[in-house]
Amino acid sequence: MSNSKIFQPSDRTVGLKQSGIRSASQRCQQISGINLGQGVCDIPIMPVIKEAAAASINNDKSLYSACEGIYPLREKIAEKMLAFNNLKVDPATQVMVSHGATGAYVSAVNTLFNPGDEVILFEPFYGYHKDLLELFGCTIKTVPINMTDFSFSMDDVRAAISNKTKAIVVCTPNNPTGKIFSREELLAIGEVAIDNDLYILTDEMYEYITYPGYEHVSLASLSDDLFARTITISGFSKTYNMTGWRLGYAVGPAAIIEKMALVQDLIYVCPSTPLQYASLAAYTLADDYYTAMRDEYLKKRDLTVQVLEKLGFNVTCPQGAYYIMANFANLPFADDETATNFLLEKAKVATVTGRSFFQNPVDGKQFLRICYALDESKVSQALTQLEIAMSDI
Ligand SMILES: Cc1ncc(COP(=O)(O)O)c(C=O)c1O
Repeated sequence: MSNSKIFQPSDRTVGLKQSGIRSASQRCQQISGINLGQGVCDIPIMPVIKEAAAASINNDKSLYSACEGIYPLREKIAEKMLAFNNLKVDPATQVMVSHGATGAYVSAVNTLFNPGDEVILFEPFYGYHKDLLELFGCTIKTVPINMTDFSFSMDDVRAAISNKTKAIVVCTPNNPTGKIFSREELLAIGEVAIDNDLYILTDEMYEYITYPGYEHVSLASLSDDLFARTITISGFSKTYNMTGWRLGYAVGPAAIIEKMALVQDLIYVCPSTPLQYASLAAYTLADDYYTAMRDEYLKKRDLTVQVLEKLGFNVTCPQGAYYIMANFANLPFADDETATNFLLEKAKVATVTGRSFFQNPVDGKQFLRICYALDESKVSQALTQLEIAMSDI
């Protein structure tokens, strides 16, 4: 008789599938293609940070840290929040270092919501924002972003609110569209949140990647009332090319951060201690590090937009971050799966299906998400491969 137990997934994981982003990456790896799917930059981490990592391991900074993170790093984060985000926070009570920005989001969701609560996302959305809320039992309501000019309607925001609504999630600079929410838009969202007593979660992972004409604004910095209901999330992954280090942070009102740290203690115990110490070195980088990073992404954005438009894609130029939602309505692809399969097989370039970013797959069927984060030579090679593959369609 077999001892094997038939696996019956829990109710909350039964509908869980591999994300479109991960499957694109896996298939890309299998054929040794170029990955313009996943949002990873493969440019090396700055030597000063790598040396700090080696030193912190060699110096045995190896034990569990406080669940909210080491104090010196919380202090540096608070200094950065003041200088860059115009947000004054107390490092002792209003800052939590987390297991990536994702860990901060998981802790916030567990702290603020009950199963059955509704949360508003702008659509297209970053899939993890939706999937983690749903895993936790929340219901998603969406507000469409107009993909030709990145506008949205405040009437749609108000219409999405019910008596079960608990929060609005704002991701700026935005993954997957490249939209940057303006100060006026954030103020309008904030006003509705205050009127309806909602929390706001802002995901500001791409805050340093902004293009000329656009500024990054932290919603929580706009008033004390907004700070009191907002959790601001960011992290080290994208700014310092250390996605695998798993370090992020959240800032917000002390009572919420305190509870989030207790949740983090249960789920993660603490963020990686040696890497927290190493990350202090990120704060020794001078302004020209950030300027050079922006200039590099600007070059890659302009090149990618130019080639995609030449190939017949309709593109709304990203204002920040490093993604393009390219519309292929004028090209002979039946849908987003056909298009991604074609580009992977014929051009050996991975992209992500539009449906990965919409609640109703049909809404994404004319889109691909293309990420231009990789080193410039790889982005340029991938674009050449796309041009060759699409030359006879
Ligand atoms: C909007 C957004 N937030 C969070 C993350 C993940 O951040 P972390 O690596 O710090 O968990 C990503 C990664 O792609 C992202 O695009």
